[in-house]
Amino acid sequence: MPRNIIDVTDLTVEEIDGLIATAEDILQNPAKYQDACAHKQLATLFFEPSTRTRLSFESAMLALGGSVLGFSEAASSSTAKGETVGDTVHTVSCYADIIAMRHPKEGAPFAAAQFSEVPIINAGDGGHNHPTQTLTDLLTIHREKGRLSGFTIGFCGDLKFGRTVHSLVNALSRYKDIRFVLVSPAELKLPRYVKEEALKKRGIPYRQTDSLDAVMSDLDILYMTRVQKERFFNEEDYLRLKDSYILTPEKLEDAKPDLSILHPLPRVNEIAVAVDKDPRAAYWKQVKNGKFIRMALILKLLDIRV
Ligand code: CP
Repeated sequence: MPRNIIDVTDLTVEEIDGLIATAEDILQNPAKYQDACAHKQLATLFFEPSTRTRLSFESAMLALGGSVLGFSEAASSSTAKGETVGDTVHTVSCYADIIAMRHPKEGAPFAAAQFSEVPIINAGDGGHNHPTQTLTDLLTIHREKGRLSGFTIGFCGDLKFGRTVHSLVNALSRYKDIRFVLVSPAELKLPRYVKEEALKKRGIPYRQTDSLDAVMSDLDILYMTRVQKERFFNEEDYLRLKDSYILTPEKLEDAKPDLSILHPLPRVNEIAVAVDKDPRAAYWKQVKNGKFIRMALILKLLDIRV
């Protein structure tokens, strides 16, 4: 049975720390890894749009000396002719050594994995989870703060549909002494099941508010998110909520000097471009980190030691 990564909790904390250590080693010694995946193939099956996740997976495999195949939209696969996702994944697992899959339906990568002969990585399933974005976020926090414990993190924006938030809350709830601040409009609060499973079950306290200004000075990390237009049932609600929070240089006047600002991207309007020049903006470094942590994950799932 291949090892799949459907949820970030499919990895133990020790395994995540190991992936971060490998990614750091790759960053320092890229040449050591350049042929590690020679003759191995990664398939990227993207049934939903992506820039960073798909291309960082592909860039990661190429940097490891492997090759890539796949599709970037459902319309160019035989699912458009009525083939089930299970049959598509079964087929691709006959050609590739490992598969990264994104799908708009929650649970689709889990269901597809039952039909695969090779490891499946969930590259984002609907409004549910995005475990490799979380690994990217953890590597970024580790590089910015030097640790994965003992800080206050604010999640701001669409906490209801933001799958990166669900996965990161889940992952960080397993580390020590982390204080969670959840900033959203009432309609876009973190789902109850995430609060129950990640926070309440572990007795982790959290604050909920609709005011970013009120909590800004308390934060060590600010994780901004986009309002997820594609998950809304009506445009009117989206238009009313889309600009709930817009981070500007003025809004950061009360923030700590060593705040780290993260965003999984894409951004729409929630971080002004002027913030990019602020040394506390870590989101473009986060984009780069995504390639290196995915290199580490591919090596782990293919059981390749360098
Ligand atoms: N962060 C992220 O998942 O970006 P893409 O949708 O561009 O892959």
